[in-house]
Amino acid sequence: MWRPPQRIRYEPSQGHIPTREEAARARLFSPVAVGPVRLAQRTWVPAMVPWRATEDGFVTSDVIDWYARFARGRPGAIVVEATGIRDIPSGPLLRIGHDRYIEGLRDLVSAVREASAGETRLFIQLIDFLAIRRRPDPKKYFERFLTITGGHRDALGMADAHENDIRARLAAMSEDELLNVLTPPEFEALRFGYRERVTDMHLPHIAALPQVLPGLFADAALRAQRAGFDGVELHYAHAYTMASFLSRTNTRQDGYGGAVENRVKLPLEVFAAVRANVPQDFAVGCRYLAEECIAGGSEVSDAAYFGEAFARAGMDFISTSRGGKFDDAKQPGIGAAAYPYTGPSGYECMPQYISDERGPFGRNAEPTGAIRRRIREAGFETPVVCTGGVHNFEFAEKLLRDGVCDIVGAARQSLADPDWFRKIALGLGGAVRTCEFTNYCEGLDQKHKAVTCQLWDKDGLDDPRVTRTPDGKRRLVAPDWTPPG
Ligand SMILES: Cc1cc2nc3c(=O)[nH]c(=O)nc-3n(C[C@H](O)[C@H](O)[C@H](O)COP(=O)(O)O)c2cc1C
Ligand code: SF4
Repeated sequence: MWRPPQRIRYEPSQGHIPTREEAARARLFSPVAVGPVRLAQRTWVPAMVPWRATEDGFVTSDVIDWYARFARGRPGAIVVEATGIRDIPSGPLLRIGHDRYIEGLRDLVSAVREASAGETRLFIQLIDFLAIRRRPDPKKYFERFLTITGGHRDALGMADAHENDIRARLAAMSEDELLNVLTPPEFEALRFGYRERVTDMHLPHIAALPQVLPGLFADAALRAQRAGFDGVELHYAHAYTMASFLSRTNTRQDGYGGAVENRVKLPLEVFAAVRANVPQDFAVGCRYLAEECIAGGSEVSDAAYFGEAFARAGMDFISTSRGGKFDDAKQPGIGAAAYPYTGPSGYECMPQYISDERGPFGRNAEPTGAIRRRIREAGFETPVVCTGGVHNFEFAEKLLRDGVCDIVGAARQSLADPDWFRKIALGLGGAVRTCEFTNYCEGLDQKHKAVTCQLWDKDGLDDPRVTRTPDGKRRLVAPDWTPPG
């Protein structure tokens, strides 16, 4: 993982710990409407992929245990991890691209209702992503994968040579030399692995995305509603398809790229299709980037424009994140795929305790505040969720007091201690296990290993009732906590 060169160490603290009475008066524990859905409190567990689905994308008992554990902390809302809207193989990521997924998702919803005594509202994040391949072995790339073109022949001065001779010549060249022979996409495929972009208009299925995606998202949302969720979060953030449409790097010439009003067109069309396909008592919102944090990427002025457009269109909530792009990801090892959280923009998304002058806590607060101000100035009351580095009551309450957001998201802190909201609400904030922002969990995510937290995954391993990773070395859910008395 990339780290800022300043390497300043930050230590998260519990901050001011409120009494039970003070917590009861706090904004954080006051209700809020998310469109048709009422949250009992303004606490929100954002989407986190725990790598517990089957290879075919079905809910497992481990998936259910994972969400039930968060639900026992009774946050206002939980957003279930990024769930694929297509019926295509995508490894152990949850899927919702066919009716056969509804049953498992319904079990998940029931488990959350039961574990939170009906208090926690449940949303599911709907995602579309484009194809990405592993970085090839250069030998195999030149032997098999690369299509030899007239361009290569011209650049090498080998117009009439046998294809095998051209392949052998390319395989013997240095990267500097290859830069003059391969096209930029070919060079990228060699160094990082092939990756589709929304701007690959020569590919018919990419050109057709605006025709295809509204229906796919709308069908997936209806399945979520049939499974019993309270709403969906359209994933318009990070490195995925919809975020790529919003990005300043989107130069499509078909009316869906270039100017900011073109880039927001498909996200609005997807929203309209989803809204029209689900009942009015079902919430529909999105998560998108307050800043892309890449060279030439969208900035907060773009995000404020999008926020107003989403609010005007009638979204029930807006949740922000930042960064997490492929554009600056680290080169993967041979046989591995590029990962969007390995470069500076990935750091912005999940900043670690070793940081720069700005520190890892609240990097998204200022831009989210600017988005919310723009939405309010335009006359909309759409609730805004801000996430990033939140780990104690004082900080969460300040975000609400300062008008940065209406709901506070906390991903890693909730993983470290799923009961942290409940402990604070009960005046027991001193018992909170505070996240150290080491990104141990994120390292597991990157390797597609079952995500756990280093603060609890070795606890009670000798207890036969504890479910563990297949190697038996880590527990899969946080230890239980029961309020005293
Ligand atoms: C293990 C892990 C998995 C994540 N998966 C998702 C995801 O599926 N969708 C998403 O929008 N963000 C995902 N995130 C990002 C978090 O939702 C959140 O934005 C980020 O961790 C920063 O918030 P925090 O400082 O409260 O952890 C993930 C984060 C972690 C640590
Ligand atoms: S492993 Fe635990 S302590 Fe470390 S960053 Fe993740 S949630 Fe926080």
